[in-house]
Amino acid sequence: MHDVLGIDVGGSGIKGAMVDLEAGDFAGERLRIPTPKRSTPAACADVIGRIIDAFADQLDADTPVGVTVPAPVVRGVVPWMANLDKGWTDLDAAGFMAKRLKRPTVLINDADAAALAEIQYGAAKGQMGTVIVLTFGTGVGTAIFHNGVLVPNCELGHIELDGVDAESRVSAGAREREELSYEKWAVRLDRYLGFVERLFWPDLFVIGGGISKNHKQFLPLLHLRTPIVPAQLRNRAGIVGAAWAAANADA
Ligand code: BGC
Repeated sequence: MHDVLGIDVGGSGIKGAMVDLEAGDFAGERLRIPTPKRSTPAACADVIGRIIDAFADQLDADTPVGVTVPAPVVRGVVPWMANLDKGWTDLDAAGFMAKRLKRPTVLINDADAAALAEIQYGAAKGQMGTVIVLTFGTGVGTAIFHNGVLVPNCELGHIELDGVDAESRVSAGAREREELSYEKWAVRLDRYLGFVERLFWPDLFVIGGGISKNHKQFLPLLHLRTPIVPAQLRNRAGIVGAAWAAANADA
């Protein structure tokens, strides 16, 4: 099995690495380029193109490149975009990228990608029942699995709670913006996850995103019925999951 390039498009950085799909981990160095200030599809495609160029000599011609976007991706179309330029809205992003990058690409929601990596290789490996994976970064990404099968494009970060978009209060971005201590942020997280718990009665929550490396500072402060564990692949999950999705896409 060849290594596959995974690229994770986020609110602050666009990151790529070759992924060893047997190990479920990076096969080499990660390259990170800041997300362009005007994060239009064209500007992001330019950065994605630079990352592909950097790994060009390692790419297998027959395997697509996996690219995540921080938005739902419905049959290649991004119907709505929360945290990047609004020029993405209703774009056939898969078609757009294939044309600009002149290479087969598979586009996938970033949380779905991260969750696939956790199910294949990480904290939720082999877990039956209902698993909800949440990523906390600029936004709040969510993915639901039942018996290992993903329900794509769940957007539970945008549940309305206390009259506001939950993401605006519980993302890692909100914690930084409002300079909240982990104790204060955990109160919000507890309320949010408690709400999600009462809607889905999951068997497991997995908490991902960069913030998950500090899980000891907030997971013990939560009062949930559902077992909750930190992601194992942390901020590598998006890239690993993108590569996995590309390698496993229907031809
Ligand atoms: C988007 C999701 C995405 C999440 C994490 C949310 O604002 O709507 O699609 O998964 O941010 O980037």
